[in-house]
Amino acid sequence: MREIKGTTKVCGLIGNPVAHSISPLIHNHLAEFENIDLAYVTFKVESSKVAEAVKGAYELNVFGLNVTVPHKNEVINALVDIDPLARDIGAVNTLVRAKGGFKGYNTDILGFQRQLIDANIELMGNDVIIIGAGGAARAIVFLCGQEGANSIYILNRTLENAQQLAKDVNKALDINVAIGMKIEDYNLLPNKQFITIQTTSVGLHPNDDCAPIENLDFYDKVSVGVDIIYNPTKTKFMKLVESKEKIAYNGLKMLLYQGVCAFELWNETKVSEDIIMHVYELMKKELNLVE
Ligand code: ATR
Repeated sequence: MREIKGTTKVCGLIGNPVAHSISPLIHNHLAEFENIDLAYVTFKVESSKVAEAVKGAYELNVFGLNVTVPHKNEVINALVDIDPLARDIGAVNTLVRAKGGFKGYNTDILGFQRQLIDANIELMGNDVIIIGAGGAARAIVFLCGQEGANSIYILNRTLENAQQLAKDVNKALDINVAIGMKIEDYNLLPNKQFITIQTTSVGLHPNDDCAPIENLDFYDKVSVGVDIIYNPTKTKFMKLVESKEKIAYNGLKMLLYQGVCAFELWNETKVSEDIIMHVYELMKKELNLVE
């Protein structure tokens, strides 16, 4: 157990609920292995008190904060500065001290980007399918747009949500590559190979035996699959991708990397690969994942 001293920097997570978050494990181990005098705790904050909590944290000299559900949008109003990608997405999960207050970042998306780099998945010039049009999809669609994807097909149960997201990203980034479609219209997709990213909650444990698209023909169009779900570790979507001899990844690295990216922003450091892998193993054990 590390010693908490007068010099110990305090970081934390604001959200509601926060008690079962994996973030304390990630950050306290990163601090221990990197030999940085930092402690990470959780703060349960009510929705009406986000601005007060952020202001109070700044005055208490809190070194850095993460923000989770349901405050990732609301917190933007309490910042003095915001990273452009986080602003476009409209969600912030990491606060870094700046002059007079906190600056906001979205390391959920920076973590996802890092996972893609790890897996050698190149968005630039490639065709992408995003399944889902919720908060997670929004961040990923903006990343694809920013990285210069050739086309972004957003397939969603509710067509209007897909179309709205496509419109938002095209407008914000001044592009014309995002298209919203109804999920069952996947047979209308062009005859190409797509990087396919699954962002819905379909297939999440205990509904392990569900995928947002069950028809095997769809998976002929998938060049590589990424599911943001990490429990079970191999979702039905991933199994369907693999049935066509293609590679599929789950969302566990994304979860770890959002933490690593926040830790690196706070401490102006680069965490080594060895330490990242060590924390990855600890996380897997702690989360009690279904194989
Ligand atoms: P998050 O912020 O985690 O992305 P969300 O905003 O609730 O979560 O978004 C959930 C996404 O999963 C949406 O795209 C939703 O589709 P709708 O826009 O039609 O609601 C999709 N989704 C959730 N349950 C689904 C189901 N049973 N079948 C298909 N899509 C589903």
